[in-house]
Amino acid sequence: MPGVFQLSPDELLREASRAHGLGVPAVLLFGIPASKDAKASGAYARDGIVQQTVRLLKKEIPELIVITDVCLCEYMSHGHCGLVQRDGTGARILNDPTLKLLARTASSHVEAGADIVAPSDMMDGRVRAIRQALDQSGFTDAPIMSYAAKFASAFYGPFREAAESAPGFGDRRSYQMNPANAVEALREVAMDIQEGADIVMVKPALAYLDVLHRVKMEFGYPTAAYAVSAEYSMIKAASAKGWIDEPAVTLESLLSMRRAGADIVITYAAKEAAQWLKESRA
Ligand code: PBG
Ligand code: ZN
Repeated sequence: MPGVFQLSPDELLREASRAHGLGVPAVLLFGIPASKDAKASGAYARDGIVQQTVRLLKKEIPELIVITDVCLCEYMSHGHCGLVQRDGTGARILNDPTLKLLARTASSHVEAGADIVAPSDMMDGRVRAIRQALDQSGFTDAPIMSYAAKFASAFYGPFREAAESAPGFGDRRSYQMNPANAVEALREVAMDIQEGADIVMVKPALAYLDVLHRVKMEFGYPTAAYAVSAEYSMIKAASAKGWIDEPAVTLESLLSMRRAGADIVITYAAKEAAQWLKESRA
C-alpha cells in the first residue's frame, strides 16, 4: 500500500504525534503480531502489540483519541476474522465461540487505555458480547464504534496485503455483506444499535455513499465512513501517473462522505488531508 507501513510502537508514536500536530483528532490501530495461531492468542494478550502501543500512546499523547480495531484475522494463522472449521476447500465460521475471544480482545484494549473499540469482524451478536464484557469489567463508559455495514468488498485488497490478513482458504462472504444488498445493511445497523453500538460505520465509503446516506437518514445516529485501502491506493496510483490532482481528488472524495452524512471519516490520507486543508486556509 503506497505510503502505508507496518510500524513499531516507537515509530507509531512519532507518526501519531505528527498527525496530531496537524489536527488529526484520532487514530485507529491495527495490530500485527510476531506470530499467529488458530485461536488468535495475540489479539487478547495482555502485552500484545496493540495493548502495548495503546499504553504508550495514552501516556505520551493523552489528548489523542485512540481507537482500536477489534478483530482476529491479523492474529489467526488462517486469516479469517473468527474461529473456523475447514469445510472442503472453504471455511465454516464458528460464530458464537468467536464472540468470547472478541469480547476478551476488546476488554484488553480498554484496560490498556483505548478510548473507543471498533469491532470489524462482522460476527452476529458481537456488539452485545463486547458491551457485556466491558460493563462487567467496569468499563461502562467505553464506547463501541461498530463496523455495522461492512461489505464483502474487493476494495480491501491493499489492506490485506499490508496487514498480512488475507484468508488462506475460502473467503469472507459468509460474514461480510453482499454488495448488492442495501436493505441488509440497514438491518445490520439496526441490530448493532440495539445491541449497544455508540457509533455505526459504513465500509467501504465511496462506492457505498447511498448506504451511508440511508443509514444517516434512517437512524440519525453518530455515523462513520471508512475510506478503505483501495479507495486510497487508486488515488495514489492515478496521481503517480500524473492523471489526477491528488489533493483536489482526495479532498473532494472525503467531502462526498461528509455530504452523504458521515460525522466521522476514517482515511489513510488523514495526515495529508489535514496538511492540505491547513494550507488552503493559510
Ligand atoms: C479486518 C479488516 C479489514 C479492513 C479493516 N479491518 C479487511 C477485511 O475485512 O478483509 C479493511 C480495511 C481497508 O481495506 O482499508 N477485519
Ligand atoms: Zn478481520
